Amino acid sequence: MKELTVHTGRSYRIKIERGLINQAGPLIRSVSKAARAAVVTDSNVAPLYAERLRVSLEAEGFTVSLFVFEAGEGSKRLSTVARMYDHFVEHSLSRTDLVVALGGGVTGDMAGFAAATYLRGIDFVQIPTSLLAQVDSSVGGKTGVDVDAGKNLVGAFWQPILVLIDPDTLSTLPKRYFADGMAEVIKYGCIKSASLFEKVASGKAAQQIEQVIYECVDIKRRVVENDERDTGERMLLNFGHTLGHALEKRYQYQTLSHGEAVGIGMVLMSTAGERRGLTKPGCALRIEQALQAYGLPVSDPTSLKELAANAGADKKSAGHVIRLILLKEIGESYLHTIPRDGLSDFLAGGIQA
Ligand code: GLY
Repeated sequence: MKELTVHTGRSYRIKIERGLINQAGPLIRSVSKAARAAVVTDSNVAPLYAERLRVSLEAEGFTVSLFVFEAGEGSKRLSTVARMYDHFVEHSLSRTDLVVALGGGVTGDMAGFAAATYLRGIDFVQIPTSLLAQVDSSVGGKTGVDVDAGKNLVGAFWQPILVLIDPDTLSTLPKRYFADGMAEVIKYGCIKSASLFEKVASGKAAQQIEQVIYECVDIKRRVVENDERDTGERMLLNFGHTLGHALEKRYQYQTLSHGEAVGIGMVLMSTAGERRGLTKPGCALRIEQALQAYGLPVSDPTSLKELAANAGADKKSAGHVIRLILLKEIGESYLHTIPRDGLSDFLAGGIQA
């Protein structure tokens, strides 16, 4: 078993091993004295793993209840969280009880937010089942929901007490969702680790997935430990995301997955960085090739002008400036501040947008 400790305001362990879901009960018991555990999961994941998890938790004396919501980003709303609160009350969850998030990013974000706010905060455990959640969203304590004005605009920093990553759950993921997570894996290589980038660039991540997940989580752990509240270094994790979010929004979150959009964002930002002499030449091409090795798209017909306008209107980054994440080279990233109205020009790098 691979293990890491995240040293945040409240420290916690991350354990990575194939088949780990079957050991969830004793592992959770070792960090929690709770009498009750509410397992939150979605309609896709529930039939696959919920029963196994319930048996394992009950064997450790937890009284288990199951809250299942309809799978999909569309459910990531306050109304679903409100139903979760009702479920917790109905099942008599107290301050010393526990929420277990079993599923992908939507599940973890939303169950974490419910745990952060129910009775002013109760413990929660993350059991991420998608690659995206395993390498990114389950670690670091960002929880939240979408509102009409945008994604993740309401939430809380609330660290889990334990993260259990079972790479076997990836075998049930459709190919497109595995690729979705691979865009974030490639991102970690780009921003912090040339050796991780090399390891996955040829398309062979699945063959060494436990090690790949470990390296990604270790990078995220270090970054989050330095900047839990996302005011400095943690922003580097958003490489490709400024334009990625703009692209996702441009297609009303229907056409491109998060990872697909972020991949295109990484290529566009590196291309612009190269044109401006801020990024080592050749990076954009290497990123393109790595993305293509997992069947991910590397371009989009949306004009740079439209993208820049969308990105500039991002509700999470007000003010006159916009902080871009650029690569110096593969494995090294930095923040670069430009005037908000200069994004279109920056992206075009002097070329007509
Ligand atoms: N997904 C970016 C972060 O956790 O900061």
